[in-house]
Amino acid sequence: MRLDRSAGGLADQLAAELRTAVRSGRLAAGGRLPATRELARDLGTSRGVVVEAYQQLVAEGFLTSRQGSGTRVAPMAPPGAGAPALAPGPAGSGGAMVGVVAPGPAGSAVAPGLATSGVAYDLRVGTPDLAAFPRRAWLAAVRRVLTELPHQALGYGDPGGAPELRAELAAYLRRVRAADVAAERLVVVNGVAQGLHLTVGALARAGPVRLAVEDPHSARTYDLLEDAGAVPVPVPVDHEGIDVGALRRTSARAVLVTPAHQYPTGVVLSPRRRAELIAWAEEVDGFVLEDDYDAEFRYDRNPVGCLQGLSPHRVVLLGSVSKSLAPGLRLGWLAAPPALATAVRQARAVSDLGSPVIDQHTMVQLIVSGAYDRHLRQMRRRYRARRDALTAALSRWLPAAVPHGVPAGIQLYLELPAGLDEAAVVAAAAARGLAVEGVAPLRIDTPGPPALVLGFARLPEHRAPGAARLLAAAVAAVRGERS
Ligand SMILES: Cc1ncc(COP(=O)(O)O)c(C=O)c1O
Repeated sequence: MRLDRSAGGLADQLAAELRTAVRSGRLAAGGRLPATRELARDLGTSRGVVVEAYQQLVAEGFLTSRQGSGTRVAPMAPPGAGAPALAPGPAGSGGAMVGVVAPGPAGSAVAPGLATSGVAYDLRVGTPDLAAFPRRAWLAAVRRVLTELPHQALGYGDPGGAPELRAELAAYLRRVRAADVAAERLVVVNGVAQGLHLTVGALARAGPVRLAVEDPHSARTYDLLEDAGAVPVPVPVDHEGIDVGALRRTSARAVLVTPAHQYPTGVVLSPRRRAELIAWAEEVDGFVLEDDYDAEFRYDRNPVGCLQGLSPHRVVLLGSVSKSLAPGLRLGWLAAPPALATAVRQARAVSDLGSPVIDQHTMVQLIVSGAYDRHLRQMRRRYRARRDALTAALSRWLPAAVPHGVPAGIQLYLELPAGLDEAAVVAAAAARGLAVEGVAPLRIDTPGPPALVLGFARLPEHRAPGAARLLAAAVAAVRGERS
């Protein structure tokens, strides 16, 4: 194990080395790792570096840590084991429309554009700070592409994406998300939404597929799952993420999750649940669809590596630049096990022959020039400050409401005082020029407390107190107090 001191980020380097060792089987399941002090001494580094690397890998599910038994390699399927066939499920379990057909979340249709008249504060979710789009860097990248791209590259390309972009994205996902992905298994898509549609479509080729979904769940992706042939089966989410025990009680053999930052509750899938989820996928010979929609943004620590990195033959990783750059780019990716990646690529060829070539090459330039990383660093600082400002303002003006979830992403889950009429709060806020969204429309079967999901990406720090005061006034009005 070698650490490059000149490169910095020693804990990240050590974590990457250990991940590779676990994946390759060099560190066997159940094997005990050296004590942090011991390994630090061997590597000539501080103990803090080893502690940080171990903690990261425990969070990702590569290692387990228990008082008294030290740090051990988590039980995992051997590399390449049991790559599943495409059609999940023994006859009857995946295809038949048995059991409950869950209704879509009420009001799940999303307005195509945001009405902004009369809105002084817009905390609706899903959109990053579009004013911060790196126009200059994008322009420089487009200019370079148009100058250098050979004519023949403008023809019909690979429906799975430009090879250059697939190579860059694969390297990026390995580096930033600890994904276990090669360019051949990566498909460029129009965003997570299209990636989900194509993946579910491939799984449902033989008939509707029962797909477990988190409850509550993103309204933006619910309808498209049904459209692609899924019969959504809601599974409750608690403070550790999706309830894998409840998932086991369904007959679903595919599940869609948001492990890095559950949408909308903001919780991170716990190490225990990550292990249980992968074990479940092995047992049912199924698939986990990992919606990694906002994983670039974690503010208190390094983001937890993606689930796909733990089990690349069971997990389909889906991501996009919708939160990191702009949703209007419609640029995303998915990394899937070989058979599924081929099916998705073929489906893309049949449906629309692939993504725009100039944008794909522009994205390559953005990554290789370092501009993408720089933009992410800048946005991380900005969003962190905005989130901090909003939580501080809420604790001052509306202390009875409780923010949940980890500091991450571009939305905040805010639990309102029990018994409050959530829809009435949303309406009272709108009447005061504050646009917010309630969580009730995202709940499918599992009831929950009144809550809001607040998009803070477009709310500068100095405006946070104003928004919090309006929300407090709306809550007071609904409670029948003077506003
Ligand atoms: C949780 C979640 N997943 C996926 C999407 C869709 O993302 P994309 O723009 O990449 O299709 C959204 C959109 O808001 C979302 O909230």
